[in-house]
Amino acid sequence: MELIERPRRLRKTPAVRGLVRETRVSKSALVYPIFVKEGRGIAEPIPSLDGQFRYSPDMLHVELEKVREAGVPAVLLFGLPAHKDECGSGAWDDEGAVQQALRLAKRDFPELYLITDVCMCEYTSHGHCGILNGREVDNDRTLEVLAKTALSHARAGADMVAPSDMMDGRILALRRALDGAGFSDTPIMSYAVKYASAFYGPFRDAAGSAPAFGDRRGYQMDYHNVREAVREAALDVEQGADVLMVKPALSYLDVVREVKSRFDLPLAAYSVSGEYAMIRAAGKAGLIDEAAVACEAAVSVFRAGADILITYYAKELAGWIDEGR
Ligand code: PBG
Ligand code: ZN
Repeated sequence: MELIERPRRLRKTPAVRGLVRETRVSKSALVYPIFVKEGRGIAEPIPSLDGQFRYSPDMLHVELEKVREAGVPAVLLFGLPAHKDECGSGAWDDEGAVQQALRLAKRDFPELYLITDVCMCEYTSHGHCGILNGREVDNDRTLEVLAKTALSHARAGADMVAPSDMMDGRILALRRALDGAGFSDTPIMSYAVKYASAFYGPFRDAAGSAPAFGDRRGYQMDYHNVREAVREAALDVEQGADVLMVKPALSYLDVVREVKSRFDLPLAAYSVSGEYAMIRAAGKAGLIDEAAVACEAAVSVFRAGADILITYYAKELAGWIDEGR
């Protein structure tokens, strides 16, 4: 057979497959999300996210040891307050769970990079991502509390802040607040392209942040749209975002690719709670090989163009990378 092209030549052995591999995943690109809950002595499993826990600030070191051990360089902190109110005032409480956790983590894990999620939904009694005006989230009043929250995080030691609320103008509002208080070196990772997604279900259970009425489609994006994603990203770039994010990841790889091709900023993708929960559950049920599927899914996100992957599998992935999977 006089075939000239035989792609199988480069698939013969692990060594040659390694040489021609196009996408190489590194632990240095992983971010691990952690839930911090106000209180003491808490390390409780999260039913909707098998294998994930909520920690009070004093117990967080248990988890951070594991993160360090795994070689994961960065965490993304979410806060669960003891009390919620109409305007989510717990979010900018300097003694709040995230703020306490930041101070402890900075002291005991100085090499760990600390990113904080900046949003109101975990802190508001109604579960929406901002201040309400009737049944709508008031964009501009929400900007003020988001800025206060980001500043409170920066003061407590956040290395980077990540607003996930989807209000218009929030990157500029945060940038101004940070710069005005001497935090001009604190970068902002914008959840620039965040869709209104049913994949957040397990997270809302974990964080107790489901909206009490309605849904988030008045501020998060319609998943039928991709031009709108480019527009959102462009606005955040103009306002001074340092890192862009697309969220969720797996059903949005076309969006990851589009944003990557249009902007020069580092791009993160958030493989959200529902993505983790599905792979986990199918693995537990014996329907798929959990590790193999989790690796394949993670690589697909990088192949699409992400530079950073935020995932509940971060620690396991780090181990699988070490094993050469
Ligand atoms: C807060 C926030 C959410 C997630 C990240 N930040 C929930 C939401 O918007 O409802 C989802 C993360 C996940 O599902 O893992 N706004
Ligand atoms: Zn929110």
